[in-house]
Amino acid sequence: MVRRRSADAWKIPKTCNWNSNVLYPRCGTEMAVGGCEVAVSFIVFQWGAAKIGVQYDSHSWGESEGSTVSNRFIQKFFQDAVIPKYQCDYEVLTVFIQHSDEFAGISPEFLASLCRGRSVCALYFLWPIQGYQSYGEKLPTAAAYVTAEPFYALVSRMEASGIPTRWPHPVQLWKLLTSKDWISQLCSSWQFQIPVTTRVSKALVLVDPPKAALMALSALRVLQRARREAWKATHSDWSEGEAELVVKLGYSYEAADVRMVKPETLAEAMYSLVTQPNYTNDCVYVQERVRTVHLEARCFVLNGEVVEALFTRFARIDCHGYVRDYEKSAKEASQGQGQGQLGPGLEEEPLKWLSNDRTAFEDAMVQMRRLSRLWHLWLLAQSAEPTVSVRIDYLVERVAEGRAEVWTCEVGEQGYSMEGIDPALVFKAVVDTV
Ligand SMILES: Nc1ncnc2c1ncn2[C@@H]1O[C@H](COP(=O)(O)OP(=O)(O)O)[C@@H](O)[C@H]1O
Ligand SMILES: [Mg+2]
Repeated sequence: MVRRRSADAWKIPKTCNWNSNVLYPRCGTEMAVGGCEVAVSFIVFQWGAAKIGVQYDSHSWGESEGSTVSNRFIQKFFQDAVIPKYQCDYEVLTVFIQHSDEFAGISPEFLASLCRGRSVCALYFLWPIQGYQSYGEKLPTAAAYVTAEPFYALVSRMEASGIPTRWPHPVQLWKLLTSKDWISQLCSSWQFQIPVTTRVSKALVLVDPPKAALMALSALRVLQRARREAWKATHSDWSEGEAELVVKLGYSYEAADVRMVKPETLAEAMYSLVTQPNYTNDCVYVQERVRTVHLEARCFVLNGEVVEALFTRFARIDCHGYVRDYEKSAKEASQGQGQGQLGPGLEEEPLKWLSNDRTAFEDAMVQMRRLSRLWHLWLLAQSAEPTVSVRIDYLVERVAEGRAEVWTCEVGEQGYSMEGIDPALVFKAVVDTV
């Protein structure tokens, strides 16, 4: 259908200082190609560099939906949740991104002016990194990796012009989760059960790596002592002269920049992580290592309730300290026992990984339920609009007969691998917030 043009047809809204809290009138111009009013306009940002295809390991990503930046995933989002709710009463405006320089040139007001929806929202299927991903870089980065700074600046401008983020999260929460800032901010609040962590600046690592390592070790010892005094001694506390560490980077995904090390190799590990080509991470996280991870529980939290859990483990740490050989428990073992429950069939694999110690297993479950409630409160403090879903990964160690220690490893933003939960549940809950 071709609409007749009015005299004002080509009056495109000017981009003015977006700090002014002006919300631009939507649907005020006729730049839209045809179109009629619909219930919702979805502005979708996805990867568009044809020569760098989206690839993913289907063992760790869900079979039906693929990785969170893949076409398949986006298609499933619409098929499972948008179409059943809106039928044809919606429209999609897709922005294909090839490199991060493009973000600065995108005008949210212009995008909004193209939309015919009574409500407009944005979905971002991209992975922000601290790294160079711009036009002309010699080393291509992986598909859908985009430079965090210009990207988040765009997301902020979109929100500032009244376009809420529906996937994955409002920008203030999304930044907190991808940066991993929450780890060092909360590890001294013992009840969150986060392994003690400190951050080391890139400058210190570059200038004097052995000194950087000593400082990190000494900070962690002080934190451990404080925890023993204020909370309790744990099995991961170091004895005199001993230390087991993990070095990791923020803005990193799929355990790509996580290394287990001893004090002797800490300096080298920090140095090599922050000096990787194209990486611009401004600091490195040094964390106490959970002594033995018998199993990992990936808890899917939907509207504040743990609805499913997938039990996994890495069978091996390679010679450079990277986790390898990802194993997951059989599907039957990971079925939750209904809404809000966290409990697998106890005879299954995860129980075996805990030496068939049912009491220790139950002990871990009780702690994970309590922690998940605490994380729900924390999320509410980060965003008044309730967070639709996150995946919380816990590390579990059986420390004695009938006793487990549980540690929070990761609070994963939407876009976590949904292997273990039906993605439609999450997609529908997201669309319900539109
Ligand atoms: N403090 C720790 N102690 C023991 N193992 C850890 C620790 N932190 C991470 N790991 C292992 O490394 C894996 C990846 O770490 P994670 O922090 O989840 O990084 P990513 O965000 O890249 O997934 C975890 O699944 C776990 O197996
Ligand atoms: Mg992880």
